[in-house]
Amino acid sequence: MVTAALPVPPEQDLVVFGASGDLARRKLLPALYNLEGSGLLPDRGSIVGLSLDPLDDSGFRDLARAAVAEFSRTGIDEGTWERFAPRLHFRQSSDDVLHHLEELLSAPQRVYYLAVPPSAFDPLLQQLRQASAQRRAGIIIEKPFGHDLPSARRLNRALHHVVPEERVFRIDHYLGKETVQNLLVFRFGNTLFQRIWNRDVVDHVQLTVAEDIGVDDRGRLYEETGAIRDVVQNHLFQLLALTCMGAPTSFEADALRDEKVKVLRAIRPIEPADVVRGQYTAGRAGGQPLRGYRQIPGVAHDSTTETYAALQVHVDTWEWAGVPFFLRTGKALVTRRTEIVLRFRDVPLHFFQGTDIARLDPNRLTVRIQPEEGISLSFNAKEPGPQVVEQSVRMDFAYGTSFRTQPAEAYERLLHDVMVGDHTLFIREDETEAAWAALDPVLQRLPPVHPYPAGSQGPEAAAAMVPPPGWHDLSHHAAPLPGSAAPG
Ligand code: BG6
Repeated sequence: MVTAALPVPPEQDLVVFGASGDLARRKLLPALYNLEGSGLLPDRGSIVGLSLDPLDDSGFRDLARAAVAEFSRTGIDEGTWERFAPRLHFRQSSDDVLHHLEELLSAPQRVYYLAVPPSAFDPLLQQLRQASAQRRAGIIIEKPFGHDLPSARRLNRALHHVVPEERVFRIDHYLGKETVQNLLVFRFGNTLFQRIWNRDVVDHVQLTVAEDIGVDDRGRLYEETGAIRDVVQNHLFQLLALTCMGAPTSFEADALRDEKVKVLRAIRPIEPADVVRGQYTAGRAGGQPLRGYRQIPGVAHDSTTETYAALQVHVDTWEWAGVPFFLRTGKALVTRRTEIVLRFRDVPLHFFQGTDIARLDPNRLTVRIQPEEGISLSFNAKEPGPQVVEQSVRMDFAYGTSFRTQPAEAYERLLHDVMVGDHTLFIREDETEAAWAALDPVLQRLPPVHPYPAGSQGPEAAAAMVPPPGWHDLSHHAAPLPGSAAPG
Protein backbone atom coordinates (compact mmCIF):
# COMPACT_ATOMS: atom_id res chain seq x y z
CA MET A 1 0.00 0.00 0.00
CA VAL A 2 1.25 3.48 -0.77
CA THR A 3 1.58 5.62 2.31
CA ALA A 4 1.67 9.37 2.05
CA ALA A 5 2.81 11.76 4.76
CA LEU A 6 -0.24 13.11 6.54
CA PRO A 7 -1.03 16.77 5.83
CA VAL A 8 -0.93 19.44 8.52
CA PRO A 9 -4.55 20.63 8.90
CA PRO A 10 -5.45 24.23 8.07
CA GLU A 11 -5.67 26.73 10.93
CA GLN A 12 -8.69 26.02 13.10
CA ASP A 13 -10.00 26.04 16.66
CA LEU A 14 -11.49 23.09 18.48
CA VAL A 15 -14.19 23.55 21.11
CA VAL A 16 -14.80 20.49 23.26
CA PHE A 17 -18.01 20.19 25.25
CA GLY A 18 -17.58 17.73 28.14
CA ALA A 19 -13.86 18.51 28.29
CA SER A 20 -13.29 17.19 31.80
CA GLY A 21 -15.27 13.98 31.26
CA ASP A 22 -14.13 10.44 30.85
CA LEU A 23 -13.90 10.44 27.06
CA ALA A 24 -11.92 13.68 27.01
CA ARG A 25 -9.46 12.49 29.63
CA ARG A 26 -8.97 8.95 28.35
CA LYS A 27 -9.04 9.54 24.63
CA LEU A 28 -9.35 13.08 23.29
CA LEU A 29 -6.71 14.97 25.24
CA PRO A 30 -4.07 12.22 24.86
CA ALA A 31 -4.89 11.97 21.13
CA LEU A 32 -4.57 15.73 20.61
CA TYR A 33 -1.32 15.75 22.56
CA ASN A 34 0.07 12.95 20.38
CA LEU A 35 -0.97 14.81 17.25
CA GLU A 36 1.02 17.76 18.57
CA GLY A 37 3.97 15.41 19.05
CA SER A 38 3.69 14.25 15.43
CA GLY A 39 3.41 17.82 14.13
CA LEU A 40 -0.16 17.17 12.99
CA LEU A 41 -2.06 19.92 14.77
CA PRO A 42 -2.71 23.13 12.83
CA ASP A 43 0.05 25.76 13.06
CA ARG A 44 -2.40 28.06 14.79
CA GLY A 45 -5.51 27.04 16.71
CA SER A 46 -6.88 26.88 20.25
CA ILE A 47 -8.40 23.94 22.03
CA VAL A 48 -11.14 25.29 24.27
CA GLY A 49 -12.61 22.96 26.86
CA LEU A 50 -16.09 23.51 28.24
CA SER A 51 -17.81 21.67 31.05
CA LEU A 52 -19.84 22.27 34.19
CA ASP A 53 -16.75 21.88 36.38
CA PRO A 54 -15.38 25.09 37.95
CA LEU A 55 -11.98 25.05 36.23
CA ASP A 56 -9.83 27.79 34.74
CA ASP A 57 -7.13 27.58 32.05
CA SER A 58 -4.47 26.45 34.45
CA GLY A 59 -6.73 23.89 36.14
CA PHE A 60 -7.64 22.49 32.72
CA ARG A 61 -3.98 22.27 31.73
CA ASP A 62 -3.26 20.33 34.92
CA LEU A 63 -6.15 17.99 34.19
CA ALA A 64 -4.92 17.52 30.61
CA ARG A 65 -1.36 16.83 31.71
CA ALA A 66 -2.51 14.21 34.21
CA ALA A 67 -4.73 12.64 31.52
CA VAL A 68 -1.86 12.49 29.03
CA ALA A 69 0.50 11.04 31.65
CA GLU A 70 -2.02 8.33 32.52
CA PHE A 71 -3.59 7.46 29.18
CA SER A 72 -1.30 8.46 26.31
CA ARG A 73 0.56 5.66 24.52
CA THR A 74 3.69 7.82 24.61
CA GLY A 75 3.83 9.48 28.05
CA ILE A 76 4.85 13.12 28.49
CA ASP A 77 7.63 14.69 26.45
CA GLU A 78 8.41 18.12 27.91
CA GLY A 79 9.09 19.77 24.52
CA THR A 80 5.74 18.58 23.14
CA TRP A 81 3.96 19.62 26.30
CA GLU A 82 5.46 23.12 26.10
CA ARG A 83 3.98 23.52 22.62
CA PHE A 84 0.66 21.88 23.50
CA ALA A 85 -0.24 23.53 26.82
CA PRO A 86 -0.64 27.12 25.53
CA ARG A 87 -3.31 25.93 23.08
CA LEU A 88 -5.51 24.78 25.98
CA HIS A 89 -8.17 27.06 27.45
CA PHE A 90 -11.22 26.43 29.58
CA ARG A 91 -14.57 28.06 30.18
CA GLN A 92 -17.33 26.83 32.46
CA SER A 93 -20.48 25.90 30.52
CA SER A 94 -23.51 28.14 30.69
CA ASP A 95 -26.44 28.92 28.41
CA ASP A 96 -24.62 31.73 26.68
CA VAL A 97 -21.04 30.53 26.99
CA LEU A 98 -20.57 30.43 23.22
CA HIS A 99 -20.99 34.20 23.02
CA HIS A 100 -18.03 34.62 25.35
CA LEU A 101 -15.60 32.47 23.43
CA GLU A 102 -14.84 34.82 20.58
CA GLU A 103 -11.77 36.27 22.26
CA LEU A 104 -10.28 32.76 22.36
CA LEU A 105 -11.22 31.70 18.85
CA SER A 106 -9.44 33.50 16.07
CA ALA A 107 -8.84 30.84 13.41
CA PRO A 108 -10.88 31.00 10.20
CA GLN A 109 -12.43 27.58 10.83
CA ARG A 110 -13.67 25.77 13.88
CA VAL A 111 -14.94 22.41 15.05
CA TYR A 112 -17.27 21.70 17.95
CA TYR A 113 -16.87 18.32 19.64
CA LEU A 114 -19.94 17.08 21.56
CA ALA A 115 -18.21 14.74 24.03
CA VAL A 116 -21.32 14.67 26.22
CA PRO A 117 -24.13 12.19 27.04
CA PRO A 118 -26.93 12.05 24.43
CA SER A 119 -29.36 13.89 26.73
CA ALA A 120 -27.16 17.02 26.33
CA PHE A 121 -27.18 16.97 22.50
CA ASP A 122 -30.39 18.92 22.01
CA PRO A 123 -29.66 21.95 24.19
CA LEU A 124 -26.12 22.17 22.82
CA LEU A 125 -27.29 21.99 19.24
CA GLN A 126 -29.66 24.84 19.95
CA GLN A 127 -26.81 26.94 21.30
CA LEU A 128 -24.69 26.06 18.31
CA ARG A 129 -27.39 27.02 15.90
CA GLN A 130 -26.77 30.58 16.88
CA ALA A 131 -23.01 30.44 17.11
CA SER A 132 -22.06 28.52 13.99
CA ALA A 133 -24.05 30.74 11.69
CA GLN A 134 -21.18 33.21 11.79
CA ARG A 135 -18.43 31.01 10.58
CA ARG A 136 -17.58 27.76 8.85
CA ALA A 137 -17.94 25.16 11.59
CA GLY A 138 -17.95 21.40 11.81
CA ILE A 139 -19.56 19.22 14.47
CA ILE A 140 -18.18 15.99 15.89
CA ILE A 141 -20.70 13.82 17.64
CA GLU A 142 -20.27 10.57 19.52
CA LYS A 143 -22.52 7.54 19.43
CA PRO A 144 -25.19 6.58 20.35
CA PHE A 145 -26.83 8.55 17.54
CA GLY A 146 -30.32 8.37 19.01
CA HIS A 147 -31.77 5.32 20.75
CA ASP A 148 -34.05 4.08 17.95
CA LEU A 149 -34.99 5.01 14.41
CA PRO A 150 -37.34 7.94 15.16
CA SER A 151 -34.89 9.53 17.62
CA ALA A 152 -31.99 9.03 15.18
CA ARG A 153 -34.01 10.85 12.51
CA ARG A 154 -34.79 13.65 14.95
CA LEU A 155 -31.11 13.98 15.84
CA ASN A 156 -30.13 14.09 12.18
CA ARG A 157 -32.65 16.87 11.57
CA ALA A 158 -31.39 18.80 14.61
CA LEU A 159 -27.80 18.49 13.36
CA HIS A 160 -28.75 19.69 9.89
CA HIS A 161 -30.37 22.74 11.39
CA VAL A 162 -26.90 23.73 12.54
CA VAL A 163 -24.59 22.49 9.77
CA PRO A 164 -25.04 20.55 6.53
CA GLU A 165 -24.27 16.81 6.46
CA GLU A 166 -20.86 17.52 4.84
CA ARG A 167 -19.77 19.11 8.10
CA VAL A 168 -21.09 16.46 10.50
CA PHE A 169 -18.57 13.91 11.76
CA ARG A 170 -20.29 10.97 13.51
CA ILE A 171 -17.66 8.97 15.34
CA ASP A 172 -17.64 5.22 15.66
CA HIS A 173 -14.15 4.82 17.02
CA TYR A 174 -13.91 1.26 15.65
CA LEU A 175 -13.39 2.77 12.21
CA GLY A 176 -10.29 4.51 13.55
CA LYS A 177 -8.67 1.19 14.41
CA GLU A 178 -5.86 0.09 12.09
CA THR A 179 -7.07 -3.49 12.03
CA VAL A 180 -10.54 -2.42 10.96
CA GLN A 181 -9.17 -0.29 8.13
CA ASN A 182 -6.97 -3.19 7.13
CA LEU A 183 -10.09 -5.21 6.36
CA LEU A 184 -10.46 -3.13 3.21
CA VAL A 185 -6.91 -3.70 2.08
CA PHE A 186 -7.07 -7.38 2.98
CA ARG A 187 -10.31 -7.84 1.06
CA PHE A 188 -9.76 -5.63 -1.94
CA GLY A 189 -5.97 -5.74 -2.20
CA ASN A 190 -5.75 -9.53 -2.58
CA THR A 191 -7.27 -11.48 -5.44
CA LEU A 192 -6.91 -14.61 -3.37
CA PHE A 193 -9.37 -13.64 -0.65
CA GLN A 194 -11.71 -11.64 -2.82
CA ARG A 195 -12.61 -14.79 -4.74
CA ILE A 196 -13.65 -16.79 -1.67
CA TRP A 197 -15.52 -14.00 0.07
CA ASN A 198 -19.13 -14.98 -0.60
CA ARG A 199 -21.95 -17.48 -0.14
CA ASP A 200 -20.39 -20.00 -2.54
CA VAL A 201 -17.78 -21.06 0.00
CA VAL A 202 -18.59 -19.39 3.31
CA ASP A 203 -20.80 -21.43 5.63
CA HIS A 204 -21.32 -18.72 8.24
CA VAL A 205 -19.55 -15.77 9.83
CA GLN A 206 -19.08 -14.93 13.51
CA LEU A 207 -18.41 -11.39 14.70
CA THR A 208 -17.45 -10.90 18.32
CA VAL A 209 -16.80 -7.85 20.48
CA ALA A 210 -16.06 -9.36 23.89
CA GLU A 211 -14.91 -7.37 26.90
CA ASP A 212 -13.65 -8.68 30.22
CA ILE A 213 -14.44 -5.46 32.08
CA GLY A 214 -17.78 -4.76 33.71
CA VAL A 215 -19.88 -1.63 33.56
CA ASP A 216 -18.11 -0.25 36.67
CA ASP A 217 -19.21 3.28 37.46
CA ARG A 218 -21.20 3.86 34.25
CA GLY A 219 -24.30 2.20 35.73
CA ARG A 220 -26.75 5.04 35.26
CA LEU A 221 -25.71 5.73 31.68
CA TYR A 222 -25.58 2.06 30.77
CA GLU A 223 -29.09 1.47 32.10
CA GLU A 224 -30.36 3.67 29.25
CA THR A 225 -28.22 1.95 26.68
CA GLY A 226 -27.51 -1.79 26.98
CA ALA A 227 -25.33 -3.88 24.71
CA ILE A 228 -27.54 -3.71 21.60
CA ARG A 229 -27.48 0.08 21.48
CA ASP A 230 -23.97 0.44 22.88
CA VAL A 231 -22.13 -1.95 20.57
CA VAL A 232 -24.35 -3.87 18.12
CA GLN A 233 -25.97 -0.88 16.38
CA ASN A 234 -22.60 0.70 15.70
CA HIS A 235 -19.36 -1.24 16.20
CA LEU A 236 -20.70 -4.67 15.24
CA PHE A 237 -22.80 -3.40 12.35
CA GLN A 238 -19.84 -1.45 11.00
CA LEU A 239 -17.69 -4.58 11.14
CA LEU A 240 -20.52 -6.45 9.41
CA ALA A 241 -20.78 -3.78 6.72
CA LEU A 242 -17.03 -3.84 6.05
CA THR A 243 -17.08 -7.64 5.94
CA CYS A 244 -19.97 -7.84 3.46
CA MET A 245 -19.68 -4.79 1.26
CA GLY A 246 -18.81 -4.89 -2.41
CA ALA A 247 -15.70 -3.19 -3.78
CA PRO A 248 -16.12 0.59 -3.76
CA THR A 249 -15.40 2.34 -7.03
CA SER A 250 -12.72 4.46 -5.34
CA PHE A 251 -11.19 5.26 -1.98
CA GLU A 252 -13.42 8.36 -1.79
CA ALA A 253 -15.46 8.78 1.39
CA ASP A 254 -18.83 8.52 -0.30
CA ALA A 255 -17.91 5.60 -2.52
CA LEU A 256 -17.05 3.62 0.59
CA ARG A 257 -20.07 4.77 2.54
CA ASP A 258 -22.39 4.00 -0.39
CA GLU A 259 -21.24 0.38 -0.28
CA LYS A 260 -21.62 0.15 3.49
CA VAL A 261 -25.12 1.55 3.44
CA LYS A 262 -26.17 -1.01 0.82
CA VAL A 263 -25.22 -3.76 3.28
CA LEU A 264 -26.93 -2.10 6.23
CA ARG A 265 -30.10 -1.72 4.19
CA ALA A 266 -29.93 -5.37 3.17
CA ILE A 267 -29.96 -6.61 6.77
CA ARG A 268 -33.20 -8.49 7.19
CA PRO A 269 -35.11 -6.84 10.08
CA ILE A 270 -34.03 -8.64 13.23
CA GLU A 271 -36.82 -10.38 15.11
CA PRO A 272 -36.78 -11.10 18.88
CA ALA A 273 -36.50 -14.85 18.18
CA ASP A 274 -33.09 -14.21 16.55
CA VAL A 275 -31.67 -12.51 19.64
CA VAL A 276 -30.43 -13.75 23.02
CA ARG A 277 -29.90 -11.13 25.68
CA GLY A 278 -27.89 -11.67 28.87
CA GLN A 279 -26.93 -9.84 32.05
CA TYR A 280 -23.91 -10.69 34.18
CA THR A 281 -24.07 -11.76 37.79
CA ALA A 282 -21.20 -11.66 40.28
CA GLY A 283 -18.04 -13.53 39.35
CA ARG A 284 -14.43 -12.98 38.38
CA ALA A 285 -13.39 -11.36 35.12
CA GLY A 286 -10.34 -9.52 33.87
CA GLY A 287 -8.36 -10.87 36.83
CA GLN A 288 -10.58 -9.36 39.48
CA PRO A 289 -13.80 -10.05 41.35
CA LEU A 290 -16.81 -8.27 39.85
CA ARG A 291 -20.13 -7.58 41.51
CA GLY A 292 -23.20 -8.42 39.49
CA TYR A 293 -24.61 -5.80 37.11
CA ARG A 294 -27.69 -5.25 39.31
CA GLN A 295 -25.46 -4.41 42.28
CA ILE A 296 -23.82 -1.45 40.51
CA PRO A 297 -24.85 2.01 41.80
CA GLY A 298 -27.38 3.57 39.46
CA VAL A 299 -28.66 0.18 38.23
CA ALA A 300 -32.19 -0.92 39.17
CA HIS A 301 -32.25 -4.03 41.39
CA ASP A 302 -34.62 -5.64 38.87
CA SER A 303 -32.99 -4.14 35.77
CA THR A 304 -33.57 -5.93 32.46
CA THR A 305 -30.86 -4.00 30.58
CA GLU A 306 -28.68 -6.44 28.64
CA THR A 307 -24.92 -6.53 29.15
CA TYR A 308 -24.67 -9.27 26.52
CA ALA A 309 -26.37 -9.78 23.20
CA ALA A 310 -26.07 -12.48 20.55
CA LEU A 311 -27.92 -12.13 17.26
CA GLN A 312 -28.44 -14.12 14.11
CA VAL A 313 -28.41 -11.74 11.17
CA HIS A 314 -29.10 -12.22 7.46
CA VAL A 315 -27.74 -9.94 4.79
CA ASP A 316 -29.97 -10.37 1.78
CA THR A 317 -27.58 -9.45 -1.00
CA TRP A 318 -26.59 -11.45 -4.05
CA GLU A 319 -23.26 -12.34 -2.40
CA TRP A 320 -24.48 -13.22 1.09
CA ALA A 321 -28.08 -14.48 0.92
CA GLY A 322 -28.42 -17.68 2.96
CA VAL A 323 -25.23 -17.18 4.97
CA PRO A 324 -26.00 -16.60 8.64
CA PHE A 325 -23.98 -13.97 10.48
CA PHE A 326 -23.71 -14.53 14.22
CA LEU A 327 -22.95 -11.37 16.18
CA ARG A 328 -22.19 -11.27 19.89
CA THR A 329 -20.97 -8.73 22.37
CA GLY A 330 -20.77 -8.68 26.14
CA LYS A 331 -19.28 -7.14 29.23
CA ALA A 332 -17.57 -9.15 31.98
CA LEU A 333 -16.79 -12.08 29.70
CA VAL A 334 -13.91 -14.50 30.06
CA THR A 335 -11.63 -12.42 27.88
CA ARG A 336 -11.30 -9.23 25.84
CA ARG A 337 -11.41 -10.04 22.15
CA THR A 338 -12.78 -8.52 18.96
CA GLU A 339 -12.64 -10.82 15.96
CA ILE A 340 -14.30 -11.82 12.73
CA VAL A 341 -14.33 -15.51 11.92
CA LEU A 342 -15.33 -16.85 8.51
CA ARG A 343 -16.10 -20.55 8.57
CA PHE A 344 -15.92 -22.16 5.16
CA ARG A 345 -18.07 -25.00 3.92
CA ASP A 346 -17.29 -28.66 4.65
CA VAL A 347 -15.44 -30.68 2.03
CA PRO A 348 -17.06 -33.85 0.64
CA LEU A 349 -15.40 -36.72 2.51
CA HIS A 350 -15.57 -39.43 -0.20
CA PHE A 351 -11.95 -39.03 -1.14
CA PHE A 352 -10.89 -40.06 2.35
CA GLN A 353 -12.93 -43.27 2.54
CA GLY A 354 -10.75 -46.09 3.80
CA THR A 355 -8.40 -43.74 5.65
CA ASP A 356 -8.38 -42.84 9.33
CA ILE A 357 -10.00 -39.52 8.56
CA ALA A 358 -13.62 -39.52 9.66
CA ARG A 359 -14.16 -35.79 9.76
CA LEU A 360 -12.27 -32.66 8.84
CA ASP A 361 -12.38 -29.30 10.53
CA PRO A 362 -13.80 -26.72 8.16
CA ASN A 363 -11.32 -24.05 7.03
CA ARG A 364 -11.48 -20.94 9.11
CA LEU A 365 -10.23 -17.43 8.56
CA THR A 366 -9.90 -15.34 11.69
CA VAL A 367 -9.38 -11.58 11.60
CA ARG A 368 -8.18 -10.52 15.04
CA ILE A 369 -9.15 -6.89 15.48
CA GLN A 370 -7.83 -6.76 19.05
CA PRO A 371 -5.82 -7.74 20.98
CA GLU A 372 -2.96 -9.79 19.38
CA GLU A 373 -3.91 -8.07 16.13
CA GLY A 374 -3.52 -10.23 13.07
CA ILE A 375 -5.12 -12.67 10.68
CA SER A 376 -4.93 -16.44 10.62
CA LEU A 377 -6.08 -19.14 8.30
CA SER A 378 -6.74 -22.64 9.64
CA PHE A 379 -6.60 -25.54 7.23
CA ASN A 380 -6.02 -29.27 7.28
CA ALA A 381 -2.64 -30.92 6.75
CA LYS A 382 -1.44 -34.49 6.77
CA GLU A 383 0.35 -35.41 9.94
CA PRO A 384 3.78 -36.80 9.07
CA GLY A 385 3.79 -40.62 9.23
CA PRO A 386 2.68 -43.74 7.37
CA GLN A 387 -1.04 -43.26 8.06
CA VAL A 388 -3.30 -40.67 6.50
CA VAL A 389 -4.11 -38.64 9.58
CA GLU A 390 -5.04 -35.01 9.37
CA GLN A 391 -4.37 -32.17 11.71
CA SER A 392 -5.68 -28.65 11.59
CA VAL A 393 -2.79 -26.17 11.30
CA ARG A 394 -2.61 -22.43 11.03
CA MET A 395 -0.95 -19.79 8.86
CA ASP A 396 -0.58 -16.64 10.80
CA PHE A 397 0.04 -12.96 10.25
CA ALA A 398 0.67 -10.89 13.38
CA TYR A 399 1.01 -7.11 13.30
CA GLY A 400 3.48 -7.25 16.17
CA THR A 401 6.02 -9.27 14.18
CA SER A 402 5.34 -8.05 10.62
CA PHE A 403 5.25 -4.33 11.37
CA ARG A 404 7.46 -3.14 14.15
CA THR A 405 5.67 0.13 14.74
CA GLN A 406 3.06 0.98 17.28
CA PRO A 407 -0.16 2.00 15.51
CA ALA A 408 -1.68 5.40 16.30
CA GLU A 409 -4.71 5.39 18.58
CA ALA A 410 -8.07 5.41 16.83
CA TYR A 411 -8.86 8.91 18.11
CA GLU A 412 -5.63 10.39 16.75
CA ARG A 413 -6.51 9.23 13.29
CA LEU A 414 -10.13 10.36 13.60
CA LEU A 415 -9.39 13.82 15.01
CA HIS A 416 -6.82 14.44 12.31
CA ASP A 417 -9.31 13.34 9.64
CA VAL A 418 -11.87 15.81 10.98
CA MET A 419 -9.35 18.63 10.85
CA VAL A 420 -8.47 17.89 7.22
CA GLY A 421 -12.14 17.33 6.34
CA ASP A 422 -11.88 13.65 5.38
CA HIS A 423 -15.20 11.83 5.96
CA THR A 424 -14.12 8.32 5.00
CA LEU A 425 -14.06 6.95 8.54
CA PHE A 426 -17.22 8.67 9.77
CA ILE A 427 -20.80 7.44 9.78
CA ARG A 428 -23.19 9.05 7.32
CA GLU A 429 -26.78 9.83 8.30
CA ASP A 430 -28.26 7.09 6.11
CA GLU A 431 -25.93 4.48 7.64
CA THR A 432 -27.08 5.14 11.16
CA GLU A 433 -30.73 5.20 10.11
CA ALA A 434 -30.42 1.91 8.21
CA ALA A 435 -28.75 0.31 11.24
CA TRP A 436 -31.56 1.41 13.54
CA ALA A 437 -34.18 0.25 11.05
CA ALA A 438 -32.71 -3.28 11.07
CA LEU A 439 -32.94 -3.42 14.87
CA ASP A 440 -36.40 -1.95 15.07
CA PRO A 441 -38.42 -5.21 15.52
CA VAL A 442 -36.24 -6.49 18.36
CA LEU A 443 -36.07 -3.10 20.10
CA GLN A 444 -39.87 -2.96 20.04
CA ARG A 445 -40.22 -6.42 21.60
CA LEU A 446 -37.12 -7.20 23.64
CA PRO A 447 -36.68 -10.88 24.51
CA PRO A 448 -35.95 -11.78 28.18
CA VAL A 449 -32.49 -11.41 29.71
CA HIS A 450 -30.63 -14.55 30.80
CA PRO A 451 -28.14 -14.33 33.66
CA TYR A 452 -24.51 -15.37 33.10
CA PRO A 453 -21.69 -15.33 35.63
CA ALA A 454 -18.97 -12.71 35.16
CA GLY A 455 -15.94 -14.41 33.65
CA SER A 456 -17.96 -16.87 31.52
CA GLN A 457 -18.61 -16.98 27.75
CA GLY A 458 -22.11 -15.54 28.12
CA PRO A 459 -25.53 -17.11 28.76
CA GLU A 460 -26.14 -20.78 28.00
CA ALA A 461 -29.10 -19.81 25.84
CA ALA A 462 -26.74 -18.22 23.29
CA ALA A 463 -24.65 -21.36 22.89
CA ALA A 464 -27.25 -23.22 20.83
CA MET A 465 -27.60 -20.40 18.34
CA VAL A 466 -24.60 -21.39 16.23
CA PRO A 467 -24.55 -24.83 14.52
CA PRO A 468 -21.88 -27.31 15.69
CA PRO A 469 -19.07 -26.87 16.54
CA GLY A 470 -20.57 -23.62 17.79
CA TRP A 471 -19.11 -20.26 18.69
CA HIS A 472 -15.39 -19.73 18.39
CA ASP A 473 -14.23 -20.49 21.93
CA LEU A 474 -13.34 -17.27 23.74
CA SER A 475 -11.11 -18.99 26.24
CA HIS A 476 -8.75 -20.25 23.49
CA HIS A 477 -5.56 -18.30 23.17
CA ALA A 478 -5.83 -16.43 19.88
CA ALA A 479 -2.20 -15.48 19.34
CA PRO A 480 0.19 -17.54 17.24
CA LEU A 481 2.29 -19.96 19.17
CA PRO A 482 6.05 -19.51 18.93
CA GLY A 483 7.36 -21.27 15.81
CA SER A 484 5.60 -21.42 12.47
CA ALA A 485 3.40 -24.53 12.60
CA ALA A 486 0.81 -23.45 15.11
CA PRO A 487 -2.01 -25.92 15.71
CA GLY A 488 -5.24 -24.54 14.24
C1 BG6 B 1 -17.60 2.02 23.41
C2 BG6 B 1 -18.68 1.48 24.30
O1 BG6 B 1 -18.14 2.56 22.25
O2 BG6 B 1 -16.69 0.99 23.08
C3 BG6 B 1 -18.09 0.88 25.55
O3 BG6 B 1 -19.56 2.53 24.65
C4 BG6 B 1 -17.03 -0.14 25.19
O4 BG6 B 1 -19.09 0.28 26.34
C5 BG6 B 1 -16.03 0.44 24.19
O5 BG6 B 1 -16.36 -0.51 26.37
C6 BG6 B 1 -15.08 -0.63 23.67
O6 BG6 B 1 -14.07 -0.01 22.92
P1 BG6 B 1 -12.68 -0.75 22.65
O7 BG6 B 1 -11.96 0.17 21.73
O8 BG6 B 1 -12.03 -0.92 23.99
O9 BG6 B 1 -13.03 -2.08 22.03
